Amino acid sequence: MDSRRTAARLIVPLSYQPSVASATAYAPVNIALIKYWGKRTIPLHLPLTDSFSITIDAGTTTTVTQSTLSDTVSLNGTPLDPSSPFYLRLTTFLDLVRPHPAFRFAITTQNDIPTAAGLASSASGFAALVLALNRFFSWNLSTQQLSCLARLGSGSACRSIQAGFSHWKRGTRADGLDSYAEKVPAEWPELAFGILLLSSKQKTIGSSDAMRRTVDTSPLFPLWASCVERDLEQLLKSLEGNDFDLFGRTIEQNALTMHATMHASWPPIVYWQPETLSALHAIFKARADGLPLYATMDAGPNVKLFFQKNHTEEVVKLFLDIQLTKLTLH
Ligand code: PMV
Repeated sequence: MDSRRTAARLIVPLSYQPSVASATAYAPVNIALIKYWGKRTIPLHLPLTDSFSITIDAGTTTTVTQSTLSDTVSLNGTPLDPSSPFYLRLTTFLDLVRPHPAFRFAITTQNDIPTAAGLASSASGFAALVLALNRFFSWNLSTQQLSCLARLGSGSACRSIQAGFSHWKRGTRADGLDSYAEKVPAEWPELAFGILLLSSKQKTIGSSDAMRRTVDTSPLFPLWASCVERDLEQLLKSLEGNDFDLFGRTIEQNALTMHATMHASWPPIVYWQPETLSALHAIFKARADGLPLYATMDAGPNVKLFFQKNHTEEVVKLFLDIQLTKLTLH
């Protein structure tokens, strides 16, 4: 049995059957404020550092039923070809939880993420799938167990099980049972968010391969791990006092440190496009002119902005194409 299957078996009950004809669940997209970049155990998606995120008002709704002959997956109303990467990724995950080897699933999944927003949907996708499976089989798993199971699909999915601020503790166990995300209660109604869709160019390298290359070849990687600890401490402090400048500085510096660490890999990993850099310079200039506006970027060229609601008009004036999206704290 491979290590992922062993890990899944430690989470789900020993024996189970569908308890309803079909089950549906929703999970939100999460935006990393302190990034996850680097794995200590690749197949189990166990991270080398903690990470921290917030969910937005967009996500994935997934329905699970039993199928007869083969697994079927429908994404946004279109049946997927069994040779497509997403079909393979999903059914490989389903292999971990089939009640018996011949059991087949029909999965219907719908993303309400703004079209082409450039947001990864794998985190909300795997979280919604795990929540739907939990209902379908009446597993009654705890949020910690659901988070661990979602992590086996995609690392950052463990932070999409619950809405709000989420702290993924790296854990130390080899089986990963202590590596899950926990909700961090915090109030910040003034916090606002928007996405700049800057380039729809296809990524040249996926996050898993890029993480592996960064850990293996970037001389900056050890420094990255120590920065994460400092950044987490600062972020938690900023949430306690709703200190926006400390919040913004922390998340932007964390994102830039992650990108600098991957830029120093070999061959280099540069997700930015010229538009990314132009947007960053516009943000630095706006800030120098007195507008409290901060950026974060993930494994792609797009820029995500954080600001406070009372500055929305100025931000929209600066970036006419910004896609404003609500944050969900509860
Ligand atoms: O969970 P993955 O393999 O899609 O990796 C996510 C990596 C980042 O989005 C760049 C950072 C993060 O913490 O979400």
